[in-house]
Amino acid sequence: MAVRTNRAVIFDLDGTLTQSEEGIFNCVRHAAETVGAPVPDDAALREYIGPPLAYSFRAFMGLDDETAERAIAAFRKRYHRVGLFENRVYPGIRRLLRTLKARGDYVGVATGKHGDATRRILDHFGLSPFIDSVCCAADGRSEKADIIRGALPESFSEAWMVGDRRFDMEGGRAAGIHTIGALYGYGTAEELEASGAEVLVESVQALIDFLCPGQEPPRGAFLSMEGLDGSGKSTQIALLTDALDRWGFEVVHSREPGGTRVGDMLRAIILDPDNPEITAETEALLYAASRAQHVRELIRPTVAAGRVLLCDRFVDSSVAYQGGGRELGVQHILDLNAAAVDGTLPLATVYLDINHEAALKRRHAATAPDRMEAESDAFFARVEKAYRELIRRDPERFIVVDATQPPEKLGEEVARRVLERLMADERP
Ligand code: TYD
Repeated sequence: MAVRTNRAVIFDLDGTLTQSEEGIFNCVRHAAETVGAPVPDDAALREYIGPPLAYSFRAFMGLDDETAERAIAAFRKRYHRVGLFENRVYPGIRRLLRTLKARGDYVGVATGKHGDATRRILDHFGLSPFIDSVCCAADGRSEKADIIRGALPESFSEAWMVGDRRFDMEGGRAAGIHTIGALYGYGTAEELEASGAEVLVESVQALIDFLCPGQEPPRGAFLSMEGLDGSGKSTQIALLTDALDRWGFEVVHSREPGGTRVGDMLRAIILDPDNPEITAETEALLYAASRAQHVRELIRPTVAAGRVLLCDRFVDSSVAYQGGGRELGVQHILDLNAAAVDGTLPLATVYLDINHEAALKRRHAATAPDRMEAESDAFFARVEKAYRELIRRDPERFIVVDATQPPEKLGEEVARRVLERLMADERP
């Protein structure tokens, strides 16, 4: 456990920790339609992010008190059902919160939003474990300065308010603490400076550099995706990347064979249909060589930098294709790869489960086969069998999903199960 510092860092939510425009825009549009007011355009909608709703509907939509009340009610109803999850964690925010936690700072959230919604958002995106206190408008406070005071610990020697709008800067000043204006949010430099920002940051990275200079990043994670050729890996990798982005995980893509300059040169040799003389043992060693470089040059440094490395195939492919398909044996390929992998295994491996006959049908509908894809049906039957043997040996690491589901539905299942693993892994 980190030693407690005497520093507190309080964050605004919308526009500072999360990019909430999708949900807020949809709910303001819905509120305008409900009360029969003109629906604001996107530029006008941006004004609604940050200030209290009661203020916004009067000031920006020009509603009288009674109509504003009805608009707020319509907004809240949709927001609490779906709007609050139409949200994205800014890239780097998870890394920042984890770094502050590791440093021993007290971390609070102060927002004009309702407490229940705030807590649900923080829970949904797995940010709650890094946050010590949440103070919101509905906790009996409406002035931002009061809300900020409510989020602060009883005693501290230094405190910062980080926010993206003037309410945050004015509130921080009134509460007697330092202020940082986040320019990546919804306010402008002029607005933030005029309202008392002491420091302005352009990006989350700049915020990390300012608040935690020289501090080692928290560990990221290594994930891999496996399956037969034709299992739909490319589509699922793209869908999973979207979900991880939304949760604020910083994803780096890679693939095997390849992932590095030398690895790509090896890939070209391995997959070239004009190299029929490559023996099974040579092939296995070339894949392992590509992997040895990949682990050291890309995978480990990426994880050490706090990012998520998502790899299209890893050692399991060698075991399945060379161990099973080429009949070199599961254990032999594991032994042969021991030095290449050197203990670096994925936190989770998604296996897109489809039998070899169905995968073959899908492949035939796609592009011209490379040297591996041109293999016989019996070859892929052995590949499938070896994958099953691996899953049986290491059930904890594999996330096995039915790859015959519609891609979108499959994507949701993959994202849900991978996010569960990632969030459990980063819990302090
Ligand atoms: P992949 O990049 O998944 O091909 P594609 O994008 O065309 O689906 O993988 C290339 C081929 O290499 C694939 O047929 C599986 C095979 N392979 C092995 O035989 N052993 C290995 O260790 C790896 C990583 C891949």
